[in-house]
Amino acid sequence: MERSLVLVKPDAVQAGLSGVIISRLEKLGLKMVALKMLHMDRALAERHYAVHRDKPFFGSLIGYITSAPIVAAVFEGEGAVAAIREAMGATDPAKAEPGTIRAEYGLNIERNAVHGSDSVETAEKEIKLFFSEDEIFSESSESKG
Ligand code: RTP
Ligand code: MG
Repeated sequence: MERSLVLVKPDAVQAGLSGVIISRLEKLGLKMVALKMLHMDRALAERHYAVHRDKPFFGSLIGYITSAPIVAAVFEGEGAVAAIREAMGATDPAKAEPGTIRAEYGLNIERNAVHGSDSVETAEKEIKLFFSEDEIFSESSESKG
């Protein structure tokens, strides 16, 4: 079953929006199969955002994402990656469709409340950075009881 990694970013966790954001994703009909709160260190942040290493905003992004705790979750369901990206809205909250999570809760193009994997392949890699298999409670991994 398709999975996506979601991060409720520091600005949203500090604003008390973790529950609201997770709830909105659950209402899409997706199943939350893993959840944790953590404070990302620089090494994890640089691996998670490695694709942006050469971007001008990389240093600021790493500083931001490691500035305070985040909530990490794995959601599972048919078309999970695209469904979550659509619910999040565009990277820049000012350009995000009205009603999307970033339009409602994002502060600016960097502090934009939420991360969602951008492809199925990226999702598989990202999930491994944050969760071990025994922390993921999907149907395929629940048989061990
Ligand atoms: P994400 O990876 O966090 O889900 O966001 P995204 O796909 O919509 O955007 P991406 O291009 O992958 O950028 C990753 C994160 O970097 C920050 N950013 N800052 N200052 C800027 O111009 C800028 N552009 C991007 C945002 O936090 C963005 O979500
Ligand atoms: Mg991205």
